Formats: sequence, structure tokens, C-alpha cells
Amino acid sequence: MSDIAEIKVDGKTVELPVITGTEDEKAIDISKLRDLTGFVTLDTGFKNTGSTKSKITFLDGEKGILKYRGYSIEELAAKSSFLEVIYLIIYGDLPTQKQLEDLQADISKHTLIHEDMKKFFDGYPSRSHPMGQLGSLIFSLSTFYPECLKPNQTAEEQDLTIIKLLAKFPTIVSFVYKKSLGHPLIYPKNKYDYVTNFLWMTFGQRTEDYDVNPIVVNAMNKLLILHADHEQNCSASTVRIVGSSDCNLYASIAAGIAALWGPLHGGANQAVIDMLELIKADGGDTEKWIAKAKDKNDPFRMMGFGHRVYKNFDPRAKIIKKACDDILENLGIDDPILEIAKKLEEAALTDQYFIDRKLYPNVDFYSGIIYRALGFPSEMFTVLFALGRLPGWIAQWKEMHENKEPIGRPRQIYVGETDREFVELKDRK
Ligand code: SDX
Repeated sequence: MSDIAEIKVDGKTVELPVITGTEDEKAIDISKLRDLTGFVTLDTGFKNTGSTKSKITFLDGEKGILKYRGYSIEELAAKSSFLEVIYLIIYGDLPTQKQLEDLQADISKHTLIHEDMKKFFDGYPSRSHPMGQLGSLIFSLSTFYPECLKPNQTAEEQDLTIIKLLAKFPTIVSFVYKKSLGHPLIYPKNKYDYVTNFLWMTFGQRTEDYDVNPIVVNAMNKLLILHADHEQNCSASTVRIVGSSDCNLYASIAAGIAALWGPLHGGANQAVIDMLELIKADGGDTEKWIAKAKDKNDPFRMMGFGHRVYKNFDPRAKIIKKACDDILENLGIDDPILEIAKKLEEAALTDQYFIDRKLYPNVDFYSGIIYRALGFPSEMFTVLFALGRLPGWIAQWKEMHENKEPIGRPRQIYVGETDREFVELKDRK
């Protein structure tokens, strides 16, 4: 395989370097293209364009492979805790027992939020969407901790900024949930591990001791691990490009939360449950709804299906689908929309429209069914996706700075009006 690509343009042939990644992915490095040819490339949606070289996550969309720092998602989901995966994704290696205990201890020092942050909740309308609250609360962390605003933080300063975000994010998520119920806020308890503490703050009550259910703790760890990173997806790319202006970590992550909220991205997990409930209310006729998904004149899309990269099964969907059966059985829950989901999947996977377009269930197709079985309302699902994706966003932001990448500023091709004569306001018709 040559490490040079030849591009013939405008009667000229230029040579551009070809780079090969450690998993044998190939790219043509076009960083000198405009200097050499005066041309830029155009790739709306960046379907063919790599934005960076990263060591965090590897996807193979054709083979349905997902690895964090070289470890398969299947092994991590089966054998690790979410806190271990947080350490792996952010710092690059699986932690030793001591490193894990130190991380838990560091986080435990910062799980409380500034008491004044609670005033935000008095301003939100009672039915406001949790993602809108989460985004503004995380953005506002940068106002309560101005030390995070310093560009070029030392390693220690950056690490403390990261630890504070890891520590406060679950507290903020649980406070958003409790406020939505009108329940008293439950403060963190440092005797609990990272995920159990989140479940305590979310489902615990001031009047009762918390009955830790290992099935729920295990399911939550698995779901958060499966969402922890996914290379240059829409929200991670958003965090990188906002961070590339030397914007602080908290505001960069808040931008990622905004991107994730979209129903084409992380918002799909809530949209899937809404869709399954709609189909159930409509009598469960999956064939009718598959026909609607295929009809170009019908705006309905099969939410939870399709992926920009996976043109085979999303490996996370496979793991979640299996976990669905186990968790619902262990919790003694019979959720009729799980059967509707399975019927949809079976029908879609034999339908030529879906086969031709390589549309398979993605991570969002079954995750909401588990979240619901664990007791979360559908409005909280994308917030839970954000809680899982937090380490990935942090790692992407950190790596972008470690690589000393320049500010992100894509070019364009202008197709608007050319020279126009200015007409005074009084003379315009
Ligand atoms: C996530 O990037 C990531 O890694 C994201 C993510 C992560 O972990 O960060 O994996 C998380 O966002 C998962 C995706 C969740 N979104 C959904 O489930 C929403 C439904 N899916 C789609 O809207 C769509 O599949 C996307 C957005 C996921 C991918 O869109 P693409 O790659 O831009 O593909 P496309 O929209 O151009 O679709 C190609 C064809 C089109 O038909 P034709 O014009 O060729 O006839 O497939 C059709 C689309 O109409 N199509 C669907 C469909 N998804 C694509 N038709 C019906 N139902 C669908 N869900």
C-alpha cells in the first residue's frame, strides 16, 4: 500500500501523504491541499472526513467493533465498573486497585455543588426538559469555579477541573430528577461507590434507608459503560471544536450536552420509547409503522435504527438487548413495549429497505426499556446518556489540548449572490 496519494486537479498532479492508523484505517492527509492546488474539499456532514488522530476509541462500522483504549466493549461491559472505565478512557489505562481507590477518594471530596446552584431550580418552569436544565447547570459550573477558565492549566489544575466535573455531574443529574418530582434533594454519601451514590441520590428518600439492589447497580454500570465514548460523534466533535477556542472544560461539555439533545443523536433514546408507546397505543401493528418509516412522504423515522458508522449491528445494541431480557426478568417486570421492539427489529431486519440501507438497531433502540425498568421517566433518558458520555467528552477535550490542535475552523464553498448594487432604503421597492 503506497503512503502517497496522487490527486490530479486543474491539469496538475499533486502528491499527498497517506496515513495508516494502528487498526489499519487509511486517510489522505489534505492539510496542504489548498496550498498546493487552491482547492478545498467539500464533505457535508463529514461522512468521509477525519477531524483528528485519536487514541481513545476505535470503531469498525462494517464489523461492528467498538474498543475503548484497545479493550473490547464486550469485555468492559461484562467485567468492569463504570468508574474503572472512566479512569481508562480519561487516563488511558485500566486502573490498579490503588488508582481506582484514589480516583473514588478524589471524587468523594467534590460531590457537593455550591448551595447557590440550587437557586437555578427555582427559576425553571415545572415541566422544563431535564436536558435544558443539565446544559445550563453544567455551563454555570464555569461561573462557580472561575479557576477553570484559565487556558493552559497545569496538569494538576486540569486534573482538579476534571475531578470536580466527574464528581458534581451525577449530583446535578439527580437534583434535576428530584426537583422534577417535587421531592427533597438527596445529598451524596461518600460511603457509596460512584454509581451507587448516583442511584442513592436519585431514588433514595430522606425518610428511609436505601436498599441497594445489586441488579440495578450492575445494570446502571453496564449502561453507563456502553455510552462512555464513541469517537468523533456529533457531541464529541462539538466538545472538541468548542474547546479548540481555549474555552473552558465546563462550557465545552455544556455545548456537547446541547448537541446530544437532538433526536438524531442522544435524544433518540427518549424518541424510541415515545415511538414504541405510540405503536402500542395504535394497536401494535409493526408492519404499518415500518411502512411509514419507508415512505419518503411520511416524516416518521424508525428511531433507534440506523447509524452513521455502524453498517452492521451496533455492538452496544446487542449487549443492551441481552441485558434487557435479564434485567426485566430479574426485576420481575413484563414491559409490553419490549415485545413490540423485538417485533419491529425482526420485521425491519428482513425488509429490503432496511437491508439496502444497512439500518440496524443502534445503542438507543433498547436502552430506554432498561432505563424505564430501573425507574427513570423517558425525559431523563438523554440526561443518562450524557452521564455515561461524560468521560468520553472529557477525554476528547483533554486529548485535543494534549495534541495542541489548532482552533477548528472549516472552510466552505460560497454559492450566494455575487456583486450587487446597494440601493438606499428610501429607494427600495
Ligand atoms: C447516536 O455518531 C455516533 O456515534 C452517535 C452515537 C454515539 O454513541 O454517539 O452512536 C449515538 O446518535 C445513535 C443514533 C441515534 N439516532 C437515531 O436512532 C435516529 C434515527 N436514525 C437516523 O436518523 C439516522 O440513521 C442517523 C442520523 C443515525 C444516521 O443518519 P445518516 O448516516 O446521515 O444517514 P441518512 O440520514 O443519510 O440515511 C441514509 C438513508 C436515507 O434513505 P435514502 O435517502 O437513502 O432513501 O437511510 C434512511 C434515510 O432516509 N434512514 C432511515 C433511518 N435512518 C436512515 N429511514 C428510516 N428510519 C431510520 N431510522
